[in-house]
Amino acid sequence: MVNQMEDEVPVIDFAGLEGDQEQRKSVSRQVAEACQTWGFFQIVNHGTNPELMKRSKQVSKEFFYLPEQEKMKIKVGPGNIRGWNHSKLTGATGDNELVKPDTVEHIFLAQFPDDEENAKGYPLNPPSYRATILEYAGEIRTLHSKILSVMWEMLGLSAEQVEKLISVEHMTMRTNFYPLRKESDPPGGVCHPHSDPGGITILLADDVSGLQVKKDGRWVQVDPVPGAFIVNVGDSAEIMSNGTYKSVEHRGMPNQTQERLTIASFSGPMLEDEVGPLDEILSERNPPRYRRDIFRNYIRSFHMRGLDGKNGLDAYK
Ligand code: SIN
Ligand code: FE2
Repeated sequence: MVNQMEDEVPVIDFAGLEGDQEQRKSVSRQVAEACQTWGFFQIVNHGTNPELMKRSKQVSKEFFYLPEQEKMKIKVGPGNIRGWNHSKLTGATGDNELVKPDTVEHIFLAQFPDDEENAKGYPLNPPSYRATILEYAGEIRTLHSKILSVMWEMLGLSAEQVEKLISVEHMTMRTNFYPLRKESDPPGGVCHPHSDPGGITILLADDVSGLQVKKDGRWVQVDPVPGAFIVNVGDSAEIMSNGTYKSVEHRGMPNQTQERLTIASFSGPMLEDEVGPLDEILSERNPPRYRRDIFRNYIRSFHMRGLDGKNGLDAYK
């Protein structure tokens, strides 16, 4: 009989990171194992303020509940992916031909550095939106560093080395809103299949299923553990690990009984840095399996393609 647990994204208890060396090693081992098999895991006891997590989802929902004309005030413009986006904005009526039909309504914003440029695209309504999201980003930045450091420990890299490779100084977020969609409704409102381009993604989700992950050629549903974050490996981390860690295709679907909100926060290489298999990992028996490129080029081709259901890594092998 198949063990049910084998079919579920691993859940890792981060409380061990506060324990002794052995407990920390155990967390690190579990993270490395999850990165090698699923490319996805959930974390509990991660130390992030639950009240802030709740408040961040709440301000985000308040924005999505606004009338369309209000949300249009921060719609994406030509050559810019920041702001509110909806498949209604495609083609003749919109400015962004890269968003596919049936795409989930979403908002894409940058948090760090916290400068004038990155402030563009933020909703002014609800008034507490930006302050709340920046507060959340501040906590999530710490969590990114924590996860990245345990994730690479098993491959022999120090926290300082990792910090130089995958930066939390430039952080972006994509918030998706999936209204309730009944079975009789026409299909739509999805986050199309893709793999994430950066280092890691930390997803804050409602306790509602809808995220699906490709495992051995089929879609597996992730049931969010209340209070947990869902973490996944991005393309750059797969490349740096020379394929040891897996950046896995996934998609976001609406739920048929409840509305659903997800906030994905991304860390990644600096735009001008070269991404390639790490020297520390390569050997005669482990020659490079990916070509090198500047992250800016990689991210550009990701956005040009849109979420097309393909793993962007194929072009880098
Ligand atoms: C994403 O991959 O950006 C979102 C997935 C989800 O909404 O569940
Ligand atoms: Fe994603």
